[in-house]
Amino acid sequence: MLAGKNIILGITGGIAAYKAASLVRLLVKAGAEVQVIMTPNAKEFIAPLTLSTLSGKPVISEFFTANTGQWNSHVDLGLWADAMIVAPATASTIAKMANGVADNMLVTTYLSAKAPVFVAPAMDLDMFKHPTTKRNLDLLRSYGNHIIEPAAGELASHLIGKGRMEEPENIVKVLDAYFDQSLDMKGRRVLITAGPTYEKIDPVRFIGNFSSGKQGFALALECAERGAQVTLVAGPVSLAIEHPGVNRIDVTSADEMHRAVLDNIESQDVAIMCAAVADYKVENELDHKIKREKGDAPTLVLVKNPDIAKAVGAVKKPGQVLVGFALETDNEDVYAHEKLAKKNLDFIVLNSLKDKGAGFQVDTNKVKIIESDGSETIFPCKDKRMVAKDIVDLLNAKYLKS
Ligand code: CTP
Repeated sequence: MLAGKNIILGITGGIAAYKAASLVRLLVKAGAEVQVIMTPNAKEFIAPLTLSTLSGKPVISEFFTANTGQWNSHVDLGLWADAMIVAPATASTIAKMANGVADNMLVTTYLSAKAPVFVAPAMDLDMFKHPTTKRNLDLLRSYGNHIIEPAAGELASHLIGKGRMEEPENIVKVLDAYFDQSLDMKGRRVLITAGPTYEKIDPVRFIGNFSSGKQGFALALECAERGAQVTLVAGPVSLAIEHPGVNRIDVTSADEMHRAVLDNIESQDVAIMCAAVADYKVENELDHKIKREKGDAPTLVLVKNPDIAKAVGAVKKPGQVLVGFALETDNEDVYAHEKLAKKNLDFIVLNSLKDKGAGFQVDTNKVKIIESDGSETIFPCKDKRMVAKDIVDLLNAKYLKS
């Protein structure tokens, strides 16, 4: 899919810059024309000669080429490109891109680029976790850029954590997928909530539920593999997901999930509310452990948690699609219809604990989809990944046509 594509590869000053040589090679091998732009610091980590040799084009780094006085036009470059990749993207360049600090050729070209921009962060785990970096990445995402999530593993500092630039092979896969017309969720932004929420009673105890998060994670993977950029807001689950198209935000309580969803909803095309959100939290949460021997058994005062799906339904913009789930034990259809209307959903995925193979902790599910236009589709019991496929097929066919 990359054959004949014009790709700008922006390289910034981080140790992962050495991987950029493989990236250029793989892109060229796939048939792309590659123009490398380096920040001045990047040249401390890898020689421009290596990259110009591999790409077959002089590397651009300055606004003017010193010996000829020729002006390197960031505007022309921005128009030439079919895609721009910044890999590795340091915290500093990410901050400059997010805030429009155009003090080098790379950021200036980024601001002029008409094509999709992919950013592959690489930095130490603490820098990656820092709220400033997080905010800047969120800003870049909200402007429509594609963030290729870094992988977890041993970093150059020998610390272990998330921050390692995604491998060049996987970056090429993401680009390839972008240009692959058969990916029907390409460029779509999907927010998914998954898993349970835990509501604290005291520092060691909580109220929770049996949700495993499996259906939500299956949906996240299905959407990402079909080309979507997924924001997965996950409650406490023991599941892993490794896909460069998935940005995972871990939360514990319903309040945290509510905040994470509202902070990220604006730029989404679709929101799928798959989490089993606790309906109540403890009003009189204690800051010390409740002791068995001291005093009478405590009385927990419960108050309602925010209804996250309803809050999204209230701010839903035209064109945004909102999908809910309902797990019921009785009066299934009546409750599902009520939720569909009350939460302003486009469709609801109903499953009943009465059905064998449906519900918490199992790998299968049996669902019925009820749409706001009154249509209903009943599916047989299937693996949760296949259920995710059915849901995304319907989403695509009926709600994301244009
Ligand atoms: N939901 C939510 N926030 C809540 C409760 C539910 O976002 N506080 C979402 C769920 O993720 C699901 C849908 O709303 O998509 C229905 O959830 P469910 O728990 O079945 O419904 P409730 O509104 O909580 O009603 P009840 O528990 O009385 O059945």
